[in-house]
Amino acid sequence: MSYQLASTSVRAPAHLRTSSAPPAPSQSGGRWIDHWLDTLHDIEALRAAHPMMDAVIDEIDGRMIRVGEQWLADFASCNYLGFDLDPEIIAVIPAFLEAWGTHPSWSRLLGSPVLYEQIEGRLTELLGCEDALVLPTITHIHNSVIPVLAASGTIFLDARAHKTIYDGCQVARSRGAAVRRFRFEDPEHLDELLAAERDRARLVCMDGVNSMTGNAPDLCAFAAVARRHGALLYVDDAHGFGVIGERSTQETSLYGARGNSIVRHFGESYDDLILVGGFSKAYSSLLAFIACPTEVKNLLKVAAPPYLYSGPSPVASLATVLAGFDVNERRGEQLRGVLHRHSARVLKTLAELDVHTPNHSELPIVEIPLRDHERIDEVGRMLFARGVYVTLAAYPLVPKAEVGFRVQLTAANTDEEVDLLIRALAELADMGELQSASAQRELEAA
Ligand SMILES: Cc1ncc(COP(=O)(O)O)c(C=O)c1O
Repeated sequence: MSYQLASTSVRAPAHLRTSSAPPAPSQSGGRWIDHWLDTLHDIEALRAAHPMMDAVIDEIDGRMIRVGEQWLADFASCNYLGFDLDPEIIAVIPAFLEAWGTHPSWSRLLGSPVLYEQIEGRLTELLGCEDALVLPTITHIHNSVIPVLAASGTIFLDARAHKTIYDGCQVARSRGAAVRRFRFEDPEHLDELLAAERDRARLVCMDGVNSMTGNAPDLCAFAAVARRHGALLYVDDAHGFGVIGERSTQETSLYGARGNSIVRHFGESYDDLILVGGFSKAYSSLLAFIACPTEVKNLLKVAAPPYLYSGPSPVASLATVLAGFDVNERRGEQLRGVLHRHSARVLKTLAELDVHTPNHSELPIVEIPLRDHERIDEVGRMLFARGVYVTLAAYPLVPKAEVGFRVQLTAANTDEEVDLLIRALAELADMGELQSASAQRELEAA
């Protein structure tokens, strides 16, 4: 086992690195908070003054939201299947509250309402895995499960892994694991690092469907590399679960059917593979899961602190997960068909406008970088004024070349809302605010 945390050990991504640790007040005489405010200046300036950041939503009407006086079409929601607004799902909640109260308030080890068993059973069937364990959030899972799986071995971390995976690896590192990073979307680099590693205890951590690019990794290639080198592969498919699934004659789009996540989508097996996902996106409920062998599940029941200590998900969320399974079974393909149609329309428009986006999957996450990162404030204000609500991707959350905004489509968006978005995108392209797709292709080819 390696305890070496020298030059090969993990560091924050360059754009998140601070030039020094925050000075202790006693040493510098300055206020400790000024260091952070300085480091996070760009995003903090937007947070403090931009109408589309840290916004208070006063009211919603379908996927339209009101911020102060302004009504906007919401393209910042992760409720991909529109379950948050689904009357059938909303209607089940009162009966569950009647039966269980609002909040069980035991940690799961102290007492698990049978609803959890039902959810884990249905999830296991849907995913086609050996077993599943649910905990409140994916963040809880990464911070508690990665350190258990890694122990004092070596973690191979996707260089652009989601911040919550990165943080889980940092916890593992503080408990004796070593962390090395492999290049994003580069199974060959992972192969090289694993081949050079002498530590026999290996864990590979990466994203499934990427929360910024909207693309899925080549899971089969990564799984093959991990297995060849005796590593356990740990995949966070927060954005894929509910959206992509097994290929089938029933599918209404290239997303596949049943929304049973990336492993099934690629026809992979769960051998030496742990899948993590959440209900807080496509299923609009506060709950998350680990698909793993029963032996690992039982270990986590005593080794993962959220199972032992954390407060539970509200009963309403357990209810909406169970109702979500039913709706997914009956109407999931139709909803995924709508979701794909909206996403494909937006991507077709961008292609026609020669606007660059990294999305080549037609999944409902469309990142649109700006030509000039310093224009984020103005571009965001223009979108807000046109009634389009998106997620601003500001520095240092993304590197300067990727500063822009992220559009997310959901099955609950209407065609008229997508029309509005498309008009605003065309206007931004016309103003020269967006990166050119053909220029980007030339750059990549050079
Ligand atoms: C890839 C990924 N993992 C984890 C999370 C966090 O999920 P949770 O809210 O369940 O902690 C997110 C949320 O944005 C995410 O995009």
